Amino acid sequence: MSVSPLPLETRLAELRELVEARLAVYARLGPDSPSRLTESMAYSLMAGGKRMRPALVLLACEACGGEPEAALPAACAIEMIHTYSLIHDDLPAMDNDDFRRGRPTNHKQFGEATAILAGDGLLTLAFEVLARHVQPPALAAACVVDLASAAGPLGMVGGQEADLEGEGRFDSETGGGASRIATVEQLEWIHKRKTGRLLCSALTMGGRIAGATPEILRRLQIYGESVGLAFQIADDLLDVTGDPSRMGKAVRKDADAQKMTYPALLGEAESRRRAEGLIHRACDAISELGARSRHLVDLAHYIIERDH
Ligand code: IPE
Ligand code: IPE
Ligand code: MG
Ligand code: MG
Ligand code: MG
Repeated sequence: MSVSPLPLETRLAELRELVEARLAVYARLGPDSPSRLTESMAYSLMAGGKRMRPALVLLACEACGGEPEAALPAACAIEMIHTYSLIHDDLPAMDNDDFRRGRPTNHKQFGEATAILAGDGLLTLAFEVLARHVQPPALAAACVVDLASAAGPLGMVGGQEADLEGEGRFDSETGGGASRIATVEQLEWIHKRKTGRLLCSALTMGGRIAGATPEILRRLQIYGESVGLAFQIADDLLDVTGDPSRMGKAVRKDADAQKMTYPALLGEAESRRRAEGLIHRACDAISELGARSRHLVDLAHYIIERDH
């Protein structure tokens, strides 16, 4: 198939619409789910957000010659995992944030217990969606492995734990507040896991669904790892320079928490330089895909140039 020549922003808006329509279907849980739980899950899931991970799934599928619609269940599943991670990341026991996606955080609206369960609900629903709606079953199983390994203890959950440990939270002597992260290698280790792996699974799932060869999947993986790390560097930079009304969340939280971040460790200019280097690496890796990967190339640049 030929890839639409639309500018990236228009294409992203189209994809967002596709994803949100399908998310709304999956979020309709029926009378057997307690209505407060259903409401709490939909409150965060349908609150907007950039839908960057689903867009990457669909664009990777398109770049490998597939129909993006075939990858919609995987696109929705990764957005459910991401939204669950945000609900839990905002809890008082973690980052203790009051705003997310332009509205009060889930626990502010529904209380901590329901927020925890809404996260659990989205996490489990994501895998049900993958297993039921990706066909054939062997492809669904491969996608489950991609997403579960990226989201679990060797990926996002492990990265979140290391992130908290890095803040010195479980240090009985200091009681926290003093970062233990001293080198860029340590910080990179955390960022790759807490953000990079999940983002990378968007690329591999999208490629798999399009029937990509192992060599193309390897290239998509390099793109995903590089863009994933750059994404978290950009998030750290936006915490310093961003406008909360654009971001839909509070800023300057990292400095208040004395958190070690790329800009705190390397300064803004060097952080930006590293993010740009990662984007070049990402785009080089997929150059072989030619014109079909144009939106992936543009999206990689957008990820570090964004203002929210
Ligand atoms: C925020 O992710 C959390 C990180 C992993 C940095 P996004 O910036 O993608 O948040 P939404 O989905 O647009 O709300
Ligand atoms: C969160 O990183 C990464 C996740 C796995 C949710 P941050 O804690 O920096 O994300 P924000 O800034 O709250 O969105
Ligand atoms: Mg956090
Ligand atoms: Mg946070
Ligand atoms: Mg942040």
